[in-house]
This record gives sequence, C-alpha cells and structure tokens, in this order.
Amino acid sequence: MRLDKYLALSGERTRSEATRLIRSGAVEVNCAIVKDGAFHISETDEIRLLGQVISDSGNQYLMLFKPAGVLTAARDKHASTVMDLVPERYVRRKVLPVGRLDKDTTGLLLLTNDGELAHRLLSPKRHVTKTYLATVTGRLDESDVAAFEAGIELSDFVSMPAGLTILSAEGDESRALVELREGKFHQVKRMFLARGHEVITLHRPTFGPLQLDETLKPGDSRELTQEEVTALRKCAGLLDGKEDSHG
Ligand code: URA
Repeated sequence: MRLDKYLALSGERTRSEATRLIRSGAVEVNCAIVKDGAFHISETDEIRLLGQVISDSGNQYLMLFKPAGVLTAARDKHASTVMDLVPERYVRRKVLPVGRLDKDTTGLLLLTNDGELAHRLLSPKRHVTKTYLATVTGRLDESDVAAFEAGIELSDFVSMPAGLTILSAEGDESRALVELREGKFHQVKRMFLARGHEVITLHRPTFGPLQLDETLKPGDSRELTQEEVTALRKCAGLLDGKEDSHG
C-alpha cells in the first residue's frame, strides 16, 4: 500500500493531510524519513509519525444503534442512510452493514470491512440468532406462539421454527420478543401479518452474540471490544476450526 494511503487510513486525516505530513518529514519507515507519499510499504514495515509507531488496526467492527427513518444502504443522494451516521474514518475504510434493517426498524446493526466474517454471518446455512422486540396490532396468544414454533407458511417460503415470547397483550396491542435464526426480507413483519397482526414498531436488541450497548443513543456507534469480535468470529466458525459453532 502507498504510504500516504496508509497514513490517511490509520488516523482521522484526509489523503492531502497525510501527504503534507509526509512531505514535512514527520513520517519514518523502518527508522528512515520518507518524504514521498507514493512510497510503497508492506505489512512488516514499521511506520512512525512524529516518532510514535502507528499501526493499521486491520479490520474494523462497529455496532450502530440504527434509528428509525434511515435506510440500510450505501450513501444515497435523496435519503439518509446508515452510512451518513458512521464516522468518516470508518467510511474511508469501507465498512459496510452486515445484513439490513428496514427503514422504520431500530436497533443493533453491525458494520465491518471484514468481508469473510460478514459473508459467514449472513450465510443461510449458519442460522445466526437475531432477536426483535415487536409491538403489533391485536392480542397475541398461545396459538401465535405455536405457529411461530411450527414455522409459518409465507408466499415464497416456510419460516424456520422461531421463538415468540408474549410480553404483554392488552387492549388492541401486544408486545413480544421474537427469536429468529434466519433473515429474509421483511421476515418478522410478514410472519406477524400471516397471523393477522401488523407490526407497529420493531427493534433489534441482539445480533448473534452481540447486544446493543445500552449507553448508545439512536444514531450513535462504537467499535466492538476484542471480546465481542472474538465472540462474533466464533459464531461465524472462524475460531479454532470450530466450523459448527452458531450464535
Ligand atoms: N424483519 C423485518 O420485518 N424487518 C426488519 O427490519 C428486520 C426483520
């Protein structure tokens, strides 16, 4: 990779800021000052900025508290997307959402530039568990719980057995926790609709082993901790050759 690109990616700076720093003599490669931004570096080179070793931390993993009203998509000219909420330094490092939440759905969205992990977490074979808190029209009852557990026939597929825990069913609204091990388009909404209930609000508190950080406000994001990344990698079958470990 070019030195100027590396320097820009490894900190909160643009390519031209990186170039200025390099030209000023502030950057060393293996203890020698390099003033050419086009200089190519390899993984084993040690890069210092003003004497401090800087490291490219490799893959980036973020959890975002997706608010309602934004699309899970790359940047869009007309609508706001989750990428508008992600700090620029991660956008530059090409993090992307893992899966999608509908525009009106809130909750935990994982973003990463680790393509292999993302691919595995989304694989239909892996059955990563996601939970959703739903407010729906009408009164849910045990027949809905049994139907979710049996699998619901939709127009194009039959859902896998899903967990439904009724939290409240009063008046003409109910609240429930749904546990899904697949993630088809509008799946939760379609499953409830097949039972005669319309989803009013939908919130995802967990994705695989990750729990939405309660200190995040809607629109906020933070990097995953090392423990969270390890748990995700385990869930994706990327640790210790444990290919069958599911989240
Ligand atoms: N199921 C839905 O219907 N919508 C979402 O955003 C996520 C799951």
